[in-house]
Amino acid sequence: MYAEFYGLKELPFALTPDPRFIYFTPSHTEVMANLHYGIESGKGLVVVTGEVGTGKTTILRWMMQRLDRTVLVAYIFNPRLSVPEFYQHVATLLDVQKWETKSELLLELGRALESRHSRGLRTVLIVDEAQGLSPHVLEEIRLLSNFESNTAKQLQIILTGQPELREVLNNPDLRQLKQRIALRCVIKALPNVEETDRYIISRLLVAGAERTDIFSPSAVDYIFRCSEGIPRNINNLCDNALLAGYAAGETVISRSIIEEVAETFDMLPRMSSAMKPDGEREAPANAFTSTGRAELWAAGTAAKENDQENVRPIPIEST
Ligand SMILES: Nc1ncnc2c1ncn2[C@@H]1O[C@H](COP(=O)(O)OP(=O)(O)OP(=O)(O)O)[C@@H](O)[C@H]1O
Ligand SMILES: [Mg+2]
Repeated sequence: MYAEFYGLKELPFALTPDPRFIYFTPSHTEVMANLHYGIESGKGLVVVTGEVGTGKTTILRWMMQRLDRTVLVAYIFNPRLSVPEFYQHVATLLDVQKWETKSELLLELGRALESRHSRGLRTVLIVDEAQGLSPHVLEEIRLLSNFESNTAKQLQIILTGQPELREVLNNPDLRQLKQRIALRCVIKALPNVEETDRYIISRLLVAGAERTDIFSPSAVDYIFRCSEGIPRNINNLCDNALLAGYAAGETVISRSIIEEVAETFDMLPRMSSAMKPDGEREAPANAFTSTGRAELWAAGTAAKENDQENVRPIPIEST
């Protein structure tokens, strides 16, 4: 296949959310800081939204691999669950046994959370693709967010989902849940050609590339325009461009190869209102001021000196 032809040890642009390939854009860093802060400080409910393919699942997987062993995580990625199925999942993942009815489960869960909390252990419920949760399950999540001590929530809950999740949470019937959201953040697409270039090079290097000029500057420029900075779109274009380049014996991927691939995949650039004429994306406002973000990040990484990956391990027991 093309990997050998381009001097790569593995395929650099797979569509799976493999955290080994993560590249931290400023937006991804900010979201990580929010998640870190939310879990460490016992904030309770945190909501992360982002367009399709911007990296929500990737960031969750990256985080879960780095949580300390003292954090117990229940990760639910199938939102189309009924209320009983949801509780069954929660109970299994958080190792709550000996219950038959919902009230018995809530009692046992409360005891387990209280006991963990008093021993300084953290418990986290993560629901990915949360835009698909039914209002009934969301109402149960609200109930779960009530487990708290005088000073902190005993169950940290992270909901991630596509922008529709915001609309779901705006449902007047769910206003009690909405009021309990302690932190909200948005994963944005890559904002410009420079970030897109860094993203592509970062993935090539993880895949073992010896050269970083496999994509010509004009190819990268066109990739940004076609993909609108969305990582999954970038991966699709790059993977297929490498295949086409290999078939044509081209060691450097030119803009014309990207044009061909974009046409085949129906991904030619469209001038959306969110794009300025020079291709720069109008960035939505930050959730925090830069000073506020710096403080949060400093708080979350105060003990990172000994950590080579610049990530302070947050206290995970199992996943
Ligand atoms: N920051 C990043 N660094 C490296 N690769 C990324 C990053 N963000 C996304 N990707 C890649 O883009 C693709 C889509 O990512 P992912 O599945 O995490 O997106 P998502 O937001 O969960 O999408 P969906 O809304 O469909 O669930 C994956 O191949 C992933 O590896
Ligand atoms: Mg996902």
